[in-house]
Amino acid sequence: MDITTVALWLQLAIIIFGLFVPSSQCYKSDAFQVTLGHIRSHTSPEIQAKAAKDVAERLLGKEISKLFIMMVDTDLGPIDKDTFKVTKNPLGEIEIRGTSGVAITWGLHYYLKNYCNVHISWDGTQITLPNTLPEVRIKITSNDRFRYYQNVCTVGYSSTWWQWKQWERNIDWMALNGINLALAFTAQEAIWQRLYQELNLTKEEIDEHLGGPAFLPWIRMGNIRGFGGPLSTNWHNRTIHLQHQILRRMRNLGIVPVLPAFAGHVPRAFARLFPNANMTKINPWNNFEDKYCCPYLLEPTDPLFQIIGEKFLRMYINEFGTDHIYNCDTFNENEPGSTELIYLRNVSHAVFAAINAVDSKAIWLMQAWLFVHDFMFWTEPRVKSFLTSVPMGRMLILDLQSEQFPQYGRLKSYYGQPFIWCMLHNFGGTLGMFGSAQIINQRTFEGRNMNGSTMVGTGLTPEGINQNYVIYELMNEMAYRHEPVDLDAWFQNYATRRYGAWNEYAVTTWQYLGRTVYNFIGSQRIRGHYVVTRRPSLNISLWIWYNRKNFYSMWNTFLKARHGRRNSTLYRHDVVDITRQALQLMGDDLYTIILDSYKKRNITAFRSSANALLELFDDLESILASGSNFLLGTWLSQAKDVATNEEERKSYEYNAKNQITLWGPNGEIRDYANKQWSGVMADYFKPRWELFLKALEKSLVENTKFNVTEINNKIFDKVERPFTFSTKFYPVEPKGI
Ligand SMILES: *[C@@H]1O[C@H](CO)[C@@H](O)[C@H](O)[C@H]1NC(C)=O
Ligand SMILES: *[C@@H]1O[C@H](CO)[C@@H](O)[C@H](O)[C@H]1NC(C)=O
Ligand SMILES: *[C@@H]1O[C@H](CO)[C@@H](O)[C@H](O)[C@H]1NC(C)=O
Ligand SMILES: *[C@@H]1O[C@H](CO)[C@@H](O)[C@H](O)[C@H]1NC(C)=O
Ligand SMILES: *[C@@H]1O[C@H](CO)[C@@H](O)[C@H](O)[C@H]1NC(C)=O
Ligand SMILES: *[C@@H]1O[C@H](CO)[C@@H](O)[C@H](O)[C@H]1NC(C)=O
Ligand SMILES: *[C@@H]1O[C@H](CO)[C@@H](O)[C@H](O)[C@H]1NC(C)=O
Ligand SMILES: *[C@@H]1O[C@H](CO)[C@@H](O)[C@H](O)[C@H]1NC(C)=O
Ligand SMILES: *[C@@H]1O[C@H](CO)[C@@H](O)[C@H](O)[C@H]1NC(C)=O
Repeated sequence: MDITTVALWLQLAIIIFGLFVPSSQCYKSDAFQVTLGHIRSHTSPEIQAKAAKDVAERLLGKEISKLFIMMVDTDLGPIDKDTFKVTKNPLGEIEIRGTSGVAITWGLHYYLKNYCNVHISWDGTQITLPNTLPEVRIKITSNDRFRYYQNVCTVGYSSTWWQWKQWERNIDWMALNGINLALAFTAQEAIWQRLYQELNLTKEEIDEHLGGPAFLPWIRMGNIRGFGGPLSTNWHNRTIHLQHQILRRMRNLGIVPVLPAFAGHVPRAFARLFPNANMTKINPWNNFEDKYCCPYLLEPTDPLFQIIGEKFLRMYINEFGTDHIYNCDTFNENEPGSTELIYLRNVSHAVFAAINAVDSKAIWLMQAWLFVHDFMFWTEPRVKSFLTSVPMGRMLILDLQSEQFPQYGRLKSYYGQPFIWCMLHNFGGTLGMFGSAQIINQRTFEGRNMNGSTMVGTGLTPEGINQNYVIYELMNEMAYRHEPVDLDAWFQNYATRRYGAWNEYAVTTWQYLGRTVYNFIGSQRIRGHYVVTRRPSLNISLWIWYNRKNFYSMWNTFLKARHGRRNSTLYRHDVVDITRQALQLMGDDLYTIILDSYKKRNITAFRSSANALLELFDDLESILASGSNFLLGTWLSQAKDVATNEEERKSYEYNAKNQITLWGPNGEIRDYANKQWSGVMADYFKPRWELFLKALEKSLVENTKFNVTEINNKIFDKVERPFTFSTKFYPVEPKGI
């Protein structure tokens, strides 16, 4: 990290905003009975214990992990919960017993975290064990039946390019955090490809439907088709192989994988094959052109739906086996064709019937996103009709964004169907500090204790991961805590574990963050939007829910913690992240000055503020380049690494770049999933503003009208589009110290 540059910016902030930076600052259900008992791992206790022990070895090394004795004892606690018990035996070993592989891995993490000051996160780990392992005697039982993980989009924004090593780390992390129910959607396309071939679709017909690796979730949901494709035989082979590894590991640990089921979205070619089937063309999604949008939705009540749905599920289960939970979302961001209650009943009944015909123990897991997104359509009677035609307990509803738009209250605990309280937290995996600590610390308990509650779990449903770890750590604890935590104390503890030792400045910083940045309680949907990451315009509305001046001075406080922490990978990560956030806020401030000088036609003031913004991009670039978790090169090299030939390499690189910039051939949802990474800053965000500011200056100097269309076209032609097609190499190693 470049502390000098950071310090320069801080000085500038003080000059421009008259900040006073003090040397050290102190800021100041009883009726509900669904045990879901058959949703159990079928793996033997021995295998689960072995799988958990392997996690311990990967985490702590072979020698140290010998000090941990891990055993599965399914009778240790109630059948519909998970329980672990941790004790120290006379030999000085730590004995961890629990009801499943997940339970004992969770118990291990609980001990390391609460007794040994260890921190395990997406950004890195801090594991320095004391010489003598502390005494312990605890028994913890989860609050609920399930801890769920993943959004259908997560695989698009975060794990598309992962190979087994990364999946393994991800599954280890799940078990360490008690997650026992997780989406496992890999290789879905490989099975569809088989089925389409059996139905005699041509290669062209399949290719115009299945799209590229970075866009699979939205193709699965019927939002788009074909874009970024085609998928190669190599891709299918690789994903099948990978999915077998993923499922084997999840099952060994006792994590229940959620498999895909048929939602009704079919290739256009179905109209040729089945001219009499009742199908409707789905409406365009976010202005995608016809070539890339609008597949058909096969009417769930049509007999063909049952045939296709059963065939698909059978093929999938034949390849991968099953644990009886399946997800499909027919109406994600597209509305049903009729408002008739009996029709809605028939639709959900049909979707479930196609699953149940193949697996009589099936449970249909559904994202309740539609009830938020299409709020006006999904009135209470309609939701009730839709949900109650499936036998009670045979659905599992993900209340997808409970921290901001919970639906379980309005929809009366989903009229009896069990639901999971999920924190969605982010869209598109955009970086930007954000979170709702107080809300999750309160409403998870309220949801569970509400009269007649059918809540059976807590979950994480972020669109992307690898950011804002702190809020995920807090959310994970809601699975076993019996009452809200004291958040100030909690953030203090977090800062202490994260960097290995208590430090005044680090603690002050995190407590401040906990009370401000991570304490959003409003209902605005805006987040991750900053001037530097947005397409240039005269029209950007700035929005912030905390005091920016306090943030700048907190930034200064945090830098004071650097003594003795320069070698801490997590401290370095956070310096980059907090500096990124501070510079982004300063970018917003500069924007205000630029606009003001433009309106006043003060060319001198305009030039100096415009130059300051461009310099800010350069400093953002060099600071991000110094952090190993902020490199475009990593994302691109992961994409290229799964290619087996030049053609795939090109395609995957385009997929990877398009998704984080234009998101669509023409910027259909431009910047929705953008990332403040080194490389993106220098070659995408900055050049856009450079062109824009030059054009603005020209219109000032020449006293001509500023042509927005012209500059937008230029930005697209000169920066955005070329960036997505370029094959420039970006480093995978950080530089600078
Ligand atoms: C696909 O083609 C084969 C060979 O022509 C034929 O036997 C089979 O019935 C066709 N399947 C469908 C679903 O049309
Ligand atoms: C399929 O993938 C596996 C593992 O990735 C590889 O070992 C095998 O050679 C591949 N088979 C084909 C036919 O490409
Ligand atoms: C097709 O399904 C729609 C519901 O989306 C229904 O209104 C219509 O009557 C059906 N058409 C036929 C021919 O069955
Ligand atoms: C609903 O299903 C029933 C039974 O299959 C059928 O008689 C009825 O016509 C369907 N109604 C609608 C509107 O789909
Ligand atoms: C909870 O529900 C029960 C049964 O419907 C009812 O008798 C009771 O009054 C309710 N309690 C509260 C606090 O609403
Ligand atoms: C500016 O924003 C307004 C709405 O806030 C919108 O109607 C207008 O088209 C925008 N103008 C430009 C140039 O983007
Ligand atoms: C930090 O790391 C460097 C290089 O590995 C090492 O030389 C130095 O002693 C370390 N400093 C501390 C305080 O651990
Ligand atoms: C233009 O801006 C500069 C710098 O902020 C300021 O010193 C100067 O007075 C301004 N000129 C006018 C005419 O307002
Ligand atoms: C603005 O630029 C566009 C695209 O270059 C052009 O078609 C249009 O005529 C220009 N408008 C004005 C008012 O000059």
